[in-house]
Amino acid sequence: MSFSKVFCRTCGPLSVGGALLIAWAMMGPQPAQAREEYQPLVVVLPDVDAVAEYTANALYDVIEGKAKKGEGAVLGLATGGTPVPAYALLRKRLKRAADMNLSKVVTFNLDEYVGLPAGHPESYRSYMAENLFVPGLMQGAERENGFSAENIHIPQGDCAAWDGLRDSVLIAQLQKHVDEYEALLRSLGPVDLQLLGIGENGHVGFAEPGSSFEGRTAVVRLTQSTREANRRFFDGDINKVPRRALSMGIASILSAKNVLLVATGTNKAEAVRRMLEGPVDTGVPASALRMHTRVTVVLDSDAASRLSKQ
Ligand code: PGA
Repeated sequence: MSFSKVFCRTCGPLSVGGALLIAWAMMGPQPAQAREEYQPLVVVLPDVDAVAEYTANALYDVIEGKAKKGEGAVLGLATGGTPVPAYALLRKRLKRAADMNLSKVVTFNLDEYVGLPAGHPESYRSYMAENLFVPGLMQGAERENGFSAENIHIPQGDCAAWDGLRDSVLIAQLQKHVDEYEALLRSLGPVDLQLLGIGENGHVGFAEPGSSFEGRTAVVRLTQSTREANRRFFDGDINKVPRRALSMGIASILSAKNVLLVATGTNKAEAVRRMLEGPVDTGVPASALRMHTRVTVVLDSDAASRLSKQ
């Protein structure tokens, strides 16, 4: 038994090592290895379509479950290529359930680029309009497609209001904005279901490798590997990919009641393996999910191809 599993609920009685670790913990600061660790539920499905269906159903079930009680689900939403087909299916299912009240559904997006003008086709605001909320809602209509504009929260990284400001002033302004975003997340949360993708470098949201597990929503620098991975959305030109973003931190993400991480494709297989089978370490931000009790990881067979047990 490794020290990191000493407190695991499923591990049974403490080993001698575990007892020593407790004694050590009582004497000084708790070592990183003493975090509780859990095994996420891993669901491997044959292909991208099956993953999309599972994801859409999971989101729909949370929305419906809350709506039946007259409440609004609180959802944490991800962007990127992976959830696109799931959002398409979710929109279809919601359309069929025309009498379901979506006006109380509250959403928080994980992240947004800094520096793209409002309405830029690659901003995550535009992405959400295109894939889930339909354009009218994001352009100021109060209600469309059932959702209420006032309940949709996406960090604002467009710099129109900050043009001409020095870098340090800009960062301070952005930091104020993300602090408010985090405060809103805390007051309207906890999130019932947090949807996540995973980067090839193991990031979640834009919480890049090295991010503290205690991190909250912040202004972050994108790694070269993330900018490389996302250049496909910017005419293949890495110079067009923003260098900074606003992103929920690991602690913000872990505050959700339930987490659903979705990955498809062989390019994610190594990140998935490190997340589930490597050490819980800030070098692989997604590995922090093993400190949460209610995580489901949904994979197609390609993304699962490097796991030792399938
Ligand atoms: P992708 O991005 O879905 O476009 O692969 C996922 C991520 O970077 O979190």
